[in-house]
Amino acid sequence: MSGAIDSILVEKRVFEPAPEFKAAAAVSGMEAYQALREQARRDPDTFWGDAARDMLVWRKPFTRVLDESDAPFYRWFDDGELNVSENCLDVHLSNGNADKPAIVFEADDGRVQTVSFRELHARVCRIANGIAGLGYRKGDRAILYMPMSIEAIACMQACARLGITHSVVFGGFSTKSLHQRIVDVQASLVITADEQMRGGRAIPLKAAVDEALAGPDTGRVRQVIVYRRSGGRVDWRDGRDHWLHEIEDGQADTCAPVPVEAEHPLFILYTSGSTGKPKGVQHSSAGYLLWAKMSAQWVFDAKPDDVFWCTADIGWVTGHSYIVYGTMAAGLTQIVFEGVPTYPDAGRFWDMIQRHKVTIFYTAPTAIRSLIKASSAAPETAPANYDLSSLRLLGSVGEPINPEAWVWYHQHVGGGRCPVVDTWWQTETGGHILAPLPGATPLKPGSCTLPLPGIEIDVVDEAGRSLPEGKGGYLVITRPWPAMIRTVWGDAERYVKSYFPPELGGAYLSGDSAQLDSDGYCWIMGRTDDVLSVSGHRLGGTEIESTLVAHEAVAEAAVVGRPDPVTGEAVVAFVVPKDELPGEADAPALAGALRDWVMREVGPIAKPREIWFGNAMPKTRSGKIMRRLLRIVAENGEITQDTSTLENPDALNRLHGPY
Ligand code: WTA
Repeated sequence: MSGAIDSILVEKRVFEPAPEFKAAAAVSGMEAYQALREQARRDPDTFWGDAARDMLVWRKPFTRVLDESDAPFYRWFDDGELNVSENCLDVHLSNGNADKPAIVFEADDGRVQTVSFRELHARVCRIANGIAGLGYRKGDRAILYMPMSIEAIACMQACARLGITHSVVFGGFSTKSLHQRIVDVQASLVITADEQMRGGRAIPLKAAVDEALAGPDTGRVRQVIVYRRSGGRVDWRDGRDHWLHEIEDGQADTCAPVPVEAEHPLFILYTSGSTGKPKGVQHSSAGYLLWAKMSAQWVFDAKPDDVFWCTADIGWVTGHSYIVYGTMAAGLTQIVFEGVPTYPDAGRFWDMIQRHKVTIFYTAPTAIRSLIKASSAAPETAPANYDLSSLRLLGSVGEPINPEAWVWYHQHVGGGRCPVVDTWWQTETGGHILAPLPGATPLKPGSCTLPLPGIEIDVVDEAGRSLPEGKGGYLVITRPWPAMIRTVWGDAERYVKSYFPPELGGAYLSGDSAQLDSDGYCWIMGRTDDVLSVSGHRLGGTEIESTLVAHEAVAEAAVVGRPDPVTGEAVVAFVVPKDELPGEADAPALAGALRDWVMREVGPIAKPREIWFGNAMPKTRSGKIMRRLLRIVAENGEITQDTSTLENPDALNRLHGPY
């Protein structure tokens, strides 16, 4: 990337926190936020040291907060010892939370099962005793390949209890990805289920594990533990395979948490970048948990009687930090959902919010946009048909949320009264980085607002120089923070190369482009790989996409560049209409209307040269639009690539254009 990115989107709406919300919030008003930020800036050692002592239970107190001597290999609280599971569960046995529901699990078919903190603690202890009984101990590594379930969460916590480093592989990944991760992480244990249930269908998991373990370099795996979810048929290898209920059976309800060093790897989670083999992002125990808990309390303004629902899968970092660890350490009652938002119909989320009286709802823009489309196509599934009055706070994560989708979420789901916290962060950051504090920060739709206290960010050019407000560039984090990635598992060189290029003088490179406005608010413009260059202007696709989504006919849009001999790149837009996909006869008129719209709203520079229509965008398994594939379509008029890594490969079938 060279030069600054031009900003074209003008979004002027501001939503101040409601007085009642502000009055009841833990961080109330911007002065309180600024004071925390100042405190962290002035004396980070005291800020983080006090937080770590107040918020975590230690087995051995630390004497040093941050060791920067081997930067960028930072060490936090490194002579201290603790146990993460003790901090998530045991603490709630004596603070009044013991009989409070920890998890309200709703299965694909609607069956509901609730466990209290006391019951979950006992369950985790029995599983941990069972795993220890198979000979596993601190320093071992386990792969988890499981459906959303109480059992999966309990197994992650059981690993943490024993000091076993886990690596969760999303249940939607193929045997090949599973095999790659088993080998890379050098796992000796695999925990899985017979099958998973999604949208009324059973999808085998154990069979995929069997196949992965038949592959090369998997000889370290001694045991496979299988949770019986569906009762579907599985192949069995005696001596290697064990039912989860059998290893739990007869075990004690208590299990002494194993103290680990603060920097002991709690988990490794693979991120699939757009190129190269997935990176194993290694996280610590103490620093990670501290920030997961602090950020959960701040950003969700957590209260003891909240019912919190994060719709992410535990296979992603969002499920780690805001289901299994941070929110659990914070003692929240949580909804855990096995299924999909569109089964039995697109009203499932709203129905669940109504039935479980959810107060905080945290989901992804991809879900919001698809439910906007669904409620236009099938109005009986729209949020207006449900009682959503229990909600008091909404959250968004995973992609930029277009201002129009933000406003729809705010009005139609939040009834105009719930703040929307747009949280920007990454697998590598461990927890929220840029996000509003809902009782303090005035909200601007489409902006993830300001850095949390303790976090320092900047937007810089390729030489690492700070850019002025309104100029887009590289988003960097300029100071270390406790939950940051520690290394790329087994590849320290790749860690340094990917995240700490020498031009940045030690700052962490996020890989996203962004700009700051005159209030210091951050506007994410997309991944730096997705920046377009048109007639000498550098444009972030996100802004053109948001303009298209603001048109009444559009549910979702993706914008990519196609090489052009005159302008460098031409803007090519892919559009999913809210209603019927236009046929070839109607498409040119709609394309013309959208072109005029972009022309009027932002000017000729952003006007799409070509527009394609489809009934869905190709998405990654974590719900992000796969622009890389769309670039190939824009260039070649067809898809020549392997599309097996897509969540919805058939999305490409009905794509037609260009118009
Ligand atoms: C994108 C998910 C804009 C961004 C927690 C980031 C966002 C990548 C937002 C990390 C947001 C995530 N606004 N973009 N609120 N949240 N992203 O590792 O490009 O799955 O770099 O972590 O998602 O995705 P990951």
